[in-house]
Amino acid sequence: MNSFKNDHYAVFGNPIEQSKSPLIHQLFAEQTGQDISYQKILGEIDSFPANLSEFFNNDFAKGCNVTAPFKQEAAKWVAELTPNAQAAGAVNTIIRMENGLYKGDTTDGAGLVIDLKNQQASLLNARILLIGAGGATRGVVLPLLAQGVECIDIVNRTKSKAEELSQWFANDKIHGLGFDEVNINSKTYSIIINCTSASLDNRIPDISDAVLSASEFAYDMVYLAEPTVFMQKAKALGVLKISDGLGMLVGQAAYSFYLWRGVMPDIQPVLQKLRAEL
Ligand code: ATR
Repeated sequence: MNSFKNDHYAVFGNPIEQSKSPLIHQLFAEQTGQDISYQKILGEIDSFPANLSEFFNNDFAKGCNVTAPFKQEAAKWVAELTPNAQAAGAVNTIIRMENGLYKGDTTDGAGLVIDLKNQQASLLNARILLIGAGGATRGVVLPLLAQGVECIDIVNRTKSKAEELSQWFANDKIHGLGFDEVNINSKTYSIIINCTSASLDNRIPDISDAVLSASEFAYDMVYLAEPTVFMQKAKALGVLKISDGLGMLVGQAAYSFYLWRGVMPDIQPVLQKLRAEL
């Protein structure tokens, strides 16, 4: 293990080469005057808990981020989970606590909320449609709910998964649906969030033009150098606000940084720099 002279952080994933986290956290550190170092580490598929233990063996190691495919394993490794990490069943941020134990949180939902607010989305009483019922959806439900939204409908290709997920939350404001139901409903949504990775394959979930065009904001969690196919479709249908998920990525990193350092960085300049480099 390297020896460090300042508080040290890392991101674990496999693969990890593509991770933008070291750059983002370096920019946050410069912006806020925090003296930290941050590296990326290729986690071993069969030895991730040992990788974590080795990392934290160094007293300078104060926390880490965790990305695919280790988020669920990280949730099992920590001693304590925040309610949101418990709901997500996944951890993307580990914090070494004063008592030497480790706490796990998931900041994706906070990142999404930060980005939506930065884009002037009004979340109070918002009617939200989440497309997809996987880990990405699971992690953002409670943070959105905490903003005072009117409802969160979860729609999924495999309807039973949406129903199971919504039942898990056991909240009157959360419902699981199939695309057939959403598309024949006359219900309109203020914000529609594509929580699937379909755009990476240039595929668009089966949401009807009528439902999509009636929304005020279409958000895709995926980001690419060009607007995603979901964003392009929303734009063609006249949806006024359209966004990819790059701001969510920077937002979740900002919230991790805040959990570790107690200082909330400004995501805007970092987002602009990343956008320019896409
Ligand atoms: P993640 O952890 O990134 O959310 P996941 O757990 O594999 O990934 O979940 C992916 C979600 O995206 C699922 O809800 C999946 O639908 P199914 O449950 O029916 O498989 C959804 N998804 C992926 N590709 C899709 C597509 N082309 N159209 C609609 N939904 C899609």
